[in-house]
Amino acid sequence: MNQDQKNNMSSSTLFSSKSSDLSGEIVIPGDKSISHRCIILSSLAIGESKITGLLNSSDVNCTINSMKSLGSCIGLNSNDEYIVNGIGIGSLKQPETPLDFGNSGTAARLILGLVSTYPIETHFTGDESLSQRPMKRVTDPLIDFGANFQLRNSEFLPIIVKGAECPIPITYEMQVASAQVKSAIMLAGLNTPGITTIIEREKTRDHTETLFKYYGYDIKIEEKDGKNFISFEGQKTLNPVNIKVPGDPSSAAYPVVAGLICKNSNIKIKSVLLNPTRDGMYKCLDEMGANIRYFNKKNEAGEITYDIEVSSSTLNPIDVSAERAPSMIDDYPILAVAASMANGTSIFRGLSELKVKESDRLMGIYNFLSKNGIDTRIEDNNLVINGSADGPKGGASIETNLDHRIAMSSIILGMVSEESIKVDDTETIKTSFPNFIKLMKKLGAKLSA
Ligand code: S3P
Repeated sequence: MNQDQKNNMSSSTLFSSKSSDLSGEIVIPGDKSISHRCIILSSLAIGESKITGLLNSSDVNCTINSMKSLGSCIGLNSNDEYIVNGIGIGSLKQPETPLDFGNSGTAARLILGLVSTYPIETHFTGDESLSQRPMKRVTDPLIDFGANFQLRNSEFLPIIVKGAECPIPITYEMQVASAQVKSAIMLAGLNTPGITTIIEREKTRDHTETLFKYYGYDIKIEEKDGKNFISFEGQKTLNPVNIKVPGDPSSAAYPVVAGLICKNSNIKIKSVLLNPTRDGMYKCLDEMGANIRYFNKKNEAGEITYDIEVSSSTLNPIDVSAERAPSMIDDYPILAVAASMANGTSIFRGLSELKVKESDRLMGIYNFLSKNGIDTRIEDNNLVINGSADGPKGGASIETNLDHRIAMSSIILGMVSEESIKVDDTETIKTSFPNFIKLMKKLGAKLSA
């Protein structure tokens, strides 16, 4: 590499090379979805909550900073526990400056819901990736509570919210399978008198519902005519809690797949959340014949966790139905890496939602696989991957486009490729899994700057 090429490389460029004999036991950082929700609900409880194992990432920091600007008092003690002094439902104050949501769709959408039923004006901004993601899916139902929104081009951040003076409860049937939209409505309903009801045709991750119960808030969830009805009365009280955030299954997915596809490997991962609304990728891997053992079942934060052991496996291709998408929506990039190592054709169906993630992930997956020599095509909203257990040629340079999951998946692909894969920006990984590179190196991954 000459000096010009070196100068053109960002300091967070990384080369991922063929690796084997991965081994060790690791602890995965706290679940991102639950971490955002714990900070918000603890801020709305009356009294002091203690959160252990909160994901300390830039995405969750956006939620922490926003909740502080809205009046919550949040600190970190010497044991790395977050102490939140909640101010109670109904007590948020108008922030003095715009709230910056960085790369975090979850933080932006959940807090859009939260502020929409307070008589305050709030300005929302975000990075280049977040500013291209659809927001109308969230603001549309919130208008019915009485809130007013000014969106750039009627769809995007920056957004100015004028919250409802006298919020009106709503009954809303979900138009997209999105836990972020559902949770935004639930948070709006907390400061609204009367009953808020949400109807889901497809079940999405249910952490907000579980946490409502954990914070002692009455909520009714019932299935009727194949639909999920969630309802609760607003303006009641959330109790403070001591809570331990379980390990993130979407983060665990990277070392899990690495352990399966790298030769002669065996990895243990402690306390991983496995909830039926999140475990689609694990079901797929089981069906592909992966050597995965789930043991030491525990209950943490009202959720079930398992320790997981994986070892090198011969994987079969898989046909993943569209119905499974909500339970594995963040995990297609890494499942695509697993499928590229299975002899034969895998099909992932119904991936339209992937186009509106941190980047157009359907295109992102296609790019990092095909550039590295894997026969891949997009047909409508389906992804077709012709895999081979021999491993891909590799050798490509991958642009992550501010998408942490494309970055991490490309790195895992490099670990089974003939030639190293270059990933242009690993800085983006800090949004969800800040110690990813360190943990992967500890397991034996050959990663270098
Ligand atoms: C999340 C929901 C999902 C997921 C995101 C986290 C959440 O988004 O992709 O990473 O915490 O509610 P959608 O609800 O938009 O599918």
